[in-house]
Amino acid sequence: MPQRYEDAFARAADKFRRSAAAAAAEGVIPYRSEGGRWIASPFDGNSWWTGGFWPALMWQFYAATREEAFLAEARRVEALLAAELRRFTDLNHDVGFMYLLSSGADYKLTGDAQARVDALHAASLLMGRYNPVGFIRAWNAPQQRGFAIIDCMMNLSLLFWASRQTDDPRFAKVATAHADTTLRAFVRPDGSVCHIVEFDPETGERVREHAGQGYALGSSWSRGQAWGLYGFTLAHMNTGLARYLDAATRIADRFVSRIRADGLTDCDFDQPETPERIDNIAGAVAACGLMELSKLANRPDYRDAALRLVDGLLDLCCDWTDASRGLLTRCTASYHDDAAGVHTNITYGDYFLIEALAKLCGSDPMLWR
Ligand code: GLY
Repeated sequence: MPQRYEDAFARAADKFRRSAAAAAAEGVIPYRSEGGRWIASPFDGNSWWTGGFWPALMWQFYAATREEAFLAEARRVEALLAAELRRFTDLNHDVGFMYLLSSGADYKLTGDAQARVDALHAASLLMGRYNPVGFIRAWNAPQQRGFAIIDCMMNLSLLFWASRQTDDPRFAKVATAHADTTLRAFVRPDGSVCHIVEFDPETGERVREHAGQGYALGSSWSRGQAWGLYGFTLAHMNTGLARYLDAATRIADRFVSRIRADGLTDCDFDQPETPERIDNIAGAVAACGLMELSKLANRPDYRDAALRLVDGLLDLCCDWTDASRGLLTRCTASYHDDAAGVHTNITYGDYFLIEALAKLCGSDPMLWR
């Protein structure tokens, strides 16, 4: 493996040592960096869906270095997230991202008993969002009773984990039912995926698609494609079912065909040429998914594609200075919503870039299982 990935990981650990100390001093769960400071999530306080990525970053560095400072910072934020379980009101289907990557990671790496309980608590909340007509409800607004989103494919990993932990198939049954609905209702014949599908919450009938964070209705929001790619890969890893492997490869083939010559990723694969809108988070997520899928599907070309993505990010879009507390630049939260962040650093982009580098360096603890 080229030394450059080892060097980049070590350099990132060095940067995030300083950034972790700053986050602790500022007392925030980092959402993005601006002006040399961390900015907390702009929405829903500590219940915002991205809260688990910062502790996950710390756990990645802890897994590689066993340095106590990374563990302490992961646990500082894990405690803040655990408090949200009791507050409950703003939590949604993204408890998978939040708690598998914080409490679940803690349990995986240290065996901490309370961390296991907190992750199981979150899994029970996620299972409780299942509507028996066939889908996990995404969000809480009354008009969104029938909404499900492609991102949830990543959250299913918490349910598969909970079934293994408890030897109780309920969690995995719910995850499989939701994955089957996603396969049927979200994956298009050309291998692209919708972001949001609205179902009739009484009957489960597919009512309509919504554009969500992409460019337009019917377009291909690149991060959604990446969630589908990695999510179906994980569903196959968890179940061994061939239909999920097939879905993952169809989504991957289309994603790979859209990687730009410079290795970066457009925010939406159907966006107009101008303005240029990059979302490097999508590329980082896809790189992680492609590396796992490469092994499962015996497709070395997927690993090559992942390396093109990682190389593009390292060559063009890393800020190694302390002008930014984070690392990855040109991340875009949503095509049309500038308030959420456009061409900026966002912590979950950092997380997936570091997960990709950890895979390449052989230190990834695979927090999704
Ligand atoms: N899960 C929401 C997003 O990817 O922005």
